[in-house]
Amino acid sequence: MNLPSLLAAMPKAELHIHIEGSLEPELIFQLAQRNGVALPYASVEDLRRAYAFSNLQSFLDIYYAGASVLLHEQDFYDMAWAYLQKAAAENVIRAEIFFDPQTHTARGVAMETVIRGLSRACRDAQKIGVEAELILCFLRHLSEEDAFETLEQALPFREHFIGVGLDSSELGHPPEKFARVFAKCRQQGLHLVAHAGEEGPPAYVWAALDVLHVERIDHGVQSAKDPALMKRLAQDRIPLTVCPLSNLKLCVFPTLAQHNLRELLDAGLCATVNSDDPAYFGGYMNANFLQTFAATGLDAQHAYRLARNSFEGSFADASQKQRAI
Ligand code: HPA
Ligand code: ZN
Repeated sequence: MNLPSLLAAMPKAELHIHIEGSLEPELIFQLAQRNGVALPYASVEDLRRAYAFSNLQSFLDIYYAGASVLLHEQDFYDMAWAYLQKAAAENVIRAEIFFDPQTHTARGVAMETVIRGLSRACRDAQKIGVEAELILCFLRHLSEEDAFETLEQALPFREHFIGVGLDSSELGHPPEKFARVFAKCRQQGLHLVAHAGEEGPPAYVWAALDVLHVERIDHGVQSAKDPALMKRLAQDRIPLTVCPLSNLKLCVFPTLAQHNLRELLDAGLCATVNSDDPAYFGGYMNANFLQTFAATGLDAQHAYRLARNSFEGSFADASQKQRAI
């Protein structure tokens, strides 16, 4: 089997996908029409033209505007179902899906509406061969108090999500800001992850590990600047959920050929490949694998390693992991 076919065909887990980032322009317009929401873009093409980002914040501004069309449980279902069908077609057999409830509750959408719509799609995904779980993300540009309130609203639906994460604007919002709310989530038995070292310094990765006690780091590519941190990540097999096309589109690396995925793998880290916000960054899982392998010269051995890492780094139970690996 040639390398592109192997990359597409191999069973894999996706551990870093924001469901609001899977909202394609066509579905944004469809939902805007269905819900009578006015958009500041004249057409799908006009919206797509706005997808030229210079950094994380320039993307987030458009990403939050896109999510404004989501109002009803069925909207959340439709968004997640569209992603899960793509995942199934790309041989993603497990997906751990981030959602940003504060983006919706701040607009008056009930937590229950968000979680029930997403959770129903995840349940239905079993029928198409995808095991899907939800991870609730706190927005780090908002206060820890706001995160506590969000957790309170979500706990009645505790059985519908397996963990919590931390996303949105990284610089100026270090992990320490959320130490207490993460401690409470830990007491609840939730899995813990956080975005760190996407644009932010290695110090944010250290703090995510040692202050928040996360089990995985989302992105983490800036860790390569700190040899002691690289050693820690390798020794403890802390998974990094790397998102190459996201890093390219948000100018974290000038070209894919300069991406440090190979360096992370060669240093013995449990690095994985993921899509982050596929509707905005020009590709789902297989596009991330295909384009990164083509640009950096990774080979079949790397492909097997990345697929294995994705299951090792997942929150699947031990027997499920055994079957996949
Ligand atoms: N980083 C931070 N916040 C996000 C991202 C990201 O890549 N995608 C969606 N929210
Ligand atoms: Zn992300």
